[in-house]
Amino acid sequence: MKYVYANWKMYLDYKESLELANKLKEETIDFAKIEMAIFPNTLAASAISSFFADSKISVGAQNVNWSPKGAYTGAVSALLFKEAGCTHALVGHSERRHVFGESDEDVRRRLEACLNEGLVPVLCIGETAEDRKAGKTEYRIKKQLMKALEKLDLGSGDFLVAYEPVWAITGSGTGEPCLPEEAERMLNVVQEELAQFTDKKIPLLYGGSVKSENVLSYVSLSNCDGILVGSASAKFDSFSSLIREVEKIG
Ligand code: PGA
Repeated sequence: MKYVYANWKMYLDYKESLELANKLKEETIDFAKIEMAIFPNTLAASAISSFFADSKISVGAQNVNWSPKGAYTGAVSALLFKEAGCTHALVGHSERRHVFGESDEDVRRRLEACLNEGLVPVLCIGETAEDRKAGKTEYRIKKQLMKALEKLDLGSGDFLVAYEPVWAITGSGTGEPCLPEEAERMLNVVQEELAQFTDKKIPLLYGGSVKSENVLSYVSLSNCDGILVGSASAKFDSFSSLIREVEKIG
């Protein structure tokens, strides 16, 4: 089984989100091979959660605020997403960190909020192009993991980590793909580092310009449990071809 997690970012409006959801529901997906979650925009989260409530597709938040309720203009908490029917949440996505300036401390608080509310967090980590140029790739990954996980009680809930090199992400990245060998090496680093914080086997995802043409080169890596896909998941044709590819090995 492989995880196929789809981050629709802000690519789709409300109507387009429901249209894509509708087409996906009509697809025959082999859920014995694929565990799927969709992360729609915040305004669509409630409708998409209800839409998939009786299906095997999970729905999650793209970002959560840590305080359940209160004077936080513009924010939506883990509690409120849970009430809206979400079961998952992305935490520390690179666009939150680098476009919206969220710190490692913010990421930690969001992660704790998800665990407290029983949402399954997908902790996103990754080095920037500058980190990479400066030979700080491993340093950045280890620091992000430590800041997020040190002395954190992971409890009995599920939890995933997505390694997404910022430079390889569509739009915000350099357009240069991350070679599967490099992804494999970094997923090993992540796995070794995670062992310091938990005895559990944490599923590891790879993300960054994944599409149907290259998805098998990532999901066939021994330490890659699945993918977090952005732009290729926001259009039906590219997403369904990607799903078909993963089904070949899932
Ligand atoms: P991408 O985005 O697949 O469009 O590169 C991945 C992500 O940001 O999660």
